[in-house]
Amino acid sequence: MADEVGFVTMARAKATHPAPEVGVGMFGYAFMGKAHTNAYKKLPYMIYPPPAVPKLVAVAGRNEEGVREAALRYGYEGYYTDWRKMLADPRVQLVDNGGPNDMHAEVSIAAAEAGKHILCEKPLGRTRAEAKSMLDAVQKAGVKHMAAFNYRFVPAIRQAYELIQSGALGEIYHFRAVYLQEWIMDPAFPMVWRLQKKVAGSGALGDLGAHIIDLGRFLVGEPKSVMAMTRTFIKERPLPDGTGTGTVDVDDAFAALVEFENGALGTLEASRFAAGRKNHEVLEINGSKGSISFNLERFNELDVYWKDGRRETQGFTNVLVTESYHPFWEHWWPQGHIIGWEHTFVHEIAHLLDAIANDKDVAPLGATFEDGYRNAVICDAILESAESGRRVNIEY
Ligand SMILES: NC(=O)c1ccc[n+]([C@@H]2O[C@H](COP(=O)([O-])OP(=O)(O)OC[C@H]3O[C@@H](n4cnc5c(N)ncnc54)[C@H](O)[C@@H]3O)[C@@H](O)[C@H]2O)c1
Repeated sequence: MADEVGFVTMARAKATHPAPEVGVGMFGYAFMGKAHTNAYKKLPYMIYPPPAVPKLVAVAGRNEEGVREAALRYGYEGYYTDWRKMLADPRVQLVDNGGPNDMHAEVSIAAAEAGKHILCEKPLGRTRAEAKSMLDAVQKAGVKHMAAFNYRFVPAIRQAYELIQSGALGEIYHFRAVYLQEWIMDPAFPMVWRLQKKVAGSGALGDLGAHIIDLGRFLVGEPKSVMAMTRTFIKERPLPDGTGTGTVDVDDAFAALVEFENGALGTLEASRFAAGRKNHEVLEINGSKGSISFNLERFNELDVYWKDGRRETQGFTNVLVTESYHPFWEHWWPQGHIIGWEHTFVHEIAHLLDAIANDKDVAPLGATFEDGYRNAVICDAILESAESGRRVNIEY
């Protein structure tokens, strides 16, 4: 039978029953607040029929003018200037924690204690101990929990996962990942929360490295040990209020060697000092039967190489991962009508809503707080290794 193509299947999906509603309380309304809200709004008509329809109940922030504007802009029914009141609102069933890293534990633990399901941005905690306290809280409360490692929901990455799971790549030898940006290279760039250890926990490591650590665990398996170095290139930066300078006490970049339990050898690198690199998250996995390579800035593509390919034409092949049979593509457009970064959140949140509405597990395709905790253990081990100059074993 011929493959179905979006040109003819586009309006075919039918809902057999009304989907339940899940009330959402959004904490924070800047970068992630915007990205997540965009997904809540798109989801019910693009992922059709939806597992549940998100109802935008309220957004919480500190500044009344700002949070009122956010509610108006994004279509939340109301707003709170005290996030604890939002957690006490019985209409809120899912708390979305898009606050800075120092607000992840406090808000998520209180949400769990209030019996709410939780989507929390990464890194889950600033340290392994903090992430563990969050994991304990959601397990005790018995709520659904997801750590927002959205790159698991890139169609090309899910396709890579399925290929690896099926054994198509054979034994995995290498996982090579970099996540490079450039946006703080200017010494005049001010101290922001991402450059302060007490708020962020770590620098490029927890911000960018956490993503590639998660993808390493998702695609290849558990790390056994790490050996790492970190660097802070610019140590003093102007304070945003012009009152002087502040000291940067997080890493601007890190590099780590990783030994996986299955014997694979990995390298991880993240930096915000890679001139010209905007959001350069690039992975390569080499196995006994071939290789797969992915570049986030080429979101819809995978490069694949098969060792048993036809000899005369052997080489890396660029695959446009936009066919109706590719992961998530039944929800979108005809082939080649590409999608982008913001759609990862639509897939991620649909997965969580399915778990909530139909009492399913978020794992193994979605990252849970267990994954968030393990990620924090690896981040801490990388910092420990960088400090001690020694190899550090990963023990959960
Ligand atoms: N998954 C991803 O791709 C991705 C990308 C960017 C950021 N993140 C993560 O998302 C989180 C938020 O990052 P962001 O870029 O959206 O940050 P941001 O600075 O753009 O937004 C943070 C929001 O939290 C609010 N906030 C801060 N402290 C608060 C408090 N005490 N009470 C109430 N509101 C408070 C701010 O007003 C703002 O609305 C971080 O943990 C970050 O690591 C994830």
